[in-house]
Amino acid sequence: MKNSGNSGLNGIFTEAPEKEHIKKYSYEYRKKLGQFFTPMFVADLMSEWVINNESGLTILDPALGLGIFFRSIAKNHFEAINNFKFIGYEIDSNMANTAKDLLLKIPNINLQIFNEDYLTEDWEVRYDGIICNPPYLKFHDYEPKDIFLNMFQAKIGIELSGFTNIYTLFILKSLWQLRDNGRMAYIVPSEFLNANYGKNIKKYIKESASLRFVIVIDFNLGVFEDATTTSCILLLAKDRNDEKVEFININSVRELELLKNYILSYPLTRKKGKVIKINELDEAQKWRIYYQELNGNKFKHLVPLRKYAKVMRGIATGANDFFMFSESKRQKYGIKTEFLLPCLSKASYATKHFFTNEDFERLKQADKPVYLLNATDLSDEDLRKYIELGERQGINKRYLTSKKTPWYALENRPPASILVTVFNRTGLRFILNEAGVYNLTAFHCVYPKPDIIPKLNLLMAYLVTDVAQEIFEDNRREYGKGLKKFEPNDLNDALIVDLEKINKDEEEHIIYLFTEFRRSIIENKDSTKWKNALNELFLNLFKR
Ligand SMILES: C[S@@+](CC[C@H](N)C(=O)[O-])C[C@H]1O[C@@H](n2cnc3c(N)ncnc32)[C@H](O)[C@@H]1O
Repeated sequence: MKNSGNSGLNGIFTEAPEKEHIKKYSYEYRKKLGQFFTPMFVADLMSEWVINNESGLTILDPALGLGIFFRSIAKNHFEAINNFKFIGYEIDSNMANTAKDLLLKIPNINLQIFNEDYLTEDWEVRYDGIICNPPYLKFHDYEPKDIFLNMFQAKIGIELSGFTNIYTLFILKSLWQLRDNGRMAYIVPSEFLNANYGKNIKKYIKESASLRFVIVIDFNLGVFEDATTTSCILLLAKDRNDEKVEFININSVRELELLKNYILSYPLTRKKGKVIKINELDEAQKWRIYYQELNGNKFKHLVPLRKYAKVMRGIATGANDFFMFSESKRQKYGIKTEFLLPCLSKASYATKHFFTNEDFERLKQADKPVYLLNATDLSDEDLRKYIELGERQGINKRYLTSKKTPWYALENRPPASILVTVFNRTGLRFILNEAGVYNLTAFHCVYPKPDIIPKLNLLMAYLVTDVAQEIFEDNRREYGKGLKKFEPNDLNDALIVDLEKINKDEEEHIIYLFTEFRRSIIENKDSTKWKNALNELFLNLFKR
C-alpha cells in the first residue's frame, strides 16, 4: 500500500515544511516553545510501531508541530488513510494553522486539530495510538507550577518534583490516556532515565507494564538539528506481552533504519539489545545501566569481590546516642572500659584510607563518641543503672532493640580488617582498619577470606585505585542529590581484578608502592604520585 496516488502532494511527505519553519522563525522563538522537529526517517519508525496496534485507529499527536507523524503515516499508508482518525494538539496558533493547511492536502484525511495546551485539556479521552515528540522545556518556564503538579497528583496519583521537565508530563498523561491494546511512541531526551527527578516517572512507566523498547540514540548522531540532547525512543504497548523490555543502542542512521523490521516483528524476536524483565527494572537506579557498556568490560581477569572477601553491613544499634560513649560520658555514668568496645560511628571520623591507633586516640582526646556499649554483666551496678535508664527512656521499645534478647545485646560483628563507606558522593572509600575497631552502619565491614589475609595489603592496594572505583561504579545505586550507595551485596557481586593473576615480582612492586602511599598519607604528605603509580600498574596488568 505504498504511496501511489500522492505525487501531487508537493513535498509534504518530506521535511521541507519543517525546514521552511526553521527559516521563518528565530531560534529563540522556537526554543521558547520547544519546537524541534523529528526527522522523517525517525517518524517512520515510530509511526509504524503505533499503527500496528490491535484495537482501533484513533491516533493522537499531543505536540503536533507540522504533523510529521501524520504525514509519515499518510506517506506509507496512503490508500488506507481513511481508516485512521487523527487528533493533534498544538499550543502555537501559527504552527497549528500551518499544520492544518498541510495535512488537509491529504485526500480523505479524518483530522481534528486543537490549538490548545495538551497538558490541561482532553484528560478523559482515550486513544488507540499516541505518537509524540514533546517539547523539552524546564518547568520554571511554566507557571503556575503548583497547579500543574497538583493536577498530575490528583489525576494520576503521582508526586512530581519541580525539577521535572515538561516532556515527562507529556509521557505520563499520554500513558494515562492510552487504551488497552493501544500503542505509544515517544521520542524524548534520555535525561530522565538517569536524573533523580525521573525516578517517579520511571516507576509509573514500569508499573504500567507497557514499556517494550527503549532505543537510545547516540549523541553524535544529532537527530535534532539544533537541540543538543541525547535522544531515546520509547515504544510502549498496552498488550499482554508485559514481561520484558529491550534496551537498544543506535549509533547511525542506517542502524535505525535497519531496526524498523526488527521492531515490527514484535513480539516475536526480542534479543538484539539488552532484554530486561520489566518487574526487575529498578527506578532508583540510573537506567543507563541497562544500555551502557559496563566499565568492567574494559578490563580482563575480573572476579566477584566475594571470591576474596565478604561484605556485611556494620552494627545497627537502633539508638546510637544511647549506645555510644565519649570519654566524658563514660565517666559521668561510671561505665568500666571492659563494657565498652572501640567503635567508629560516623564516616567523618575516618577520612583517609587508613585508620590507625593514633587516629582513634585523637578522636578519644577530642571527646568524640568512640565507645560502643557492650553490656555483658548486669551484676555491675553502674552498668545496670545505665541499662535501667535506657528502659525508662523507652530505648528497649525501639524498632531494632525490641527485636533483640536482651534488648541491649550487640549484633555479632567482629572488627573487620577493611571498612568501606556506605554513602559517598565521590566514590567508594576503603579504609584499612589498623586500629581494629568495631563499626556502626556508616561503614560496611569487609572480611577477607582466610587465604587472602596474608595478601591483605595487595587487596587494599587495588581497592584504593581508580581502576577499582571505575569497575565498582557498575554496581552502584543512586539516591537523591547525586548520593551514591552500595548495599553489601552490591559489593559482594561487584567485580575486582583477580589477584591470582599477579606474579611475585608484580606483587612486590605493588606492595612497595602501597607502602609509600601509606607513608605519605600517615605523614600528611601528597600521596598523588604513589596512587598514580598504582593506577598505572593495575591498568597495565588488567586493561583489555
Ligand atoms: C518538539 S516539537 C515537535 C513537533 C512535531 N511533532 C515533530 O515531531 O516534528 C513540540 C511541539 O509542541 C508544541 N507545544 C509546546 N507546548 C505544548 C503544549 N503544552 N501543548 C501542545 N503543544 C505544545 C510546540 O509548539 C511544538 O510545535
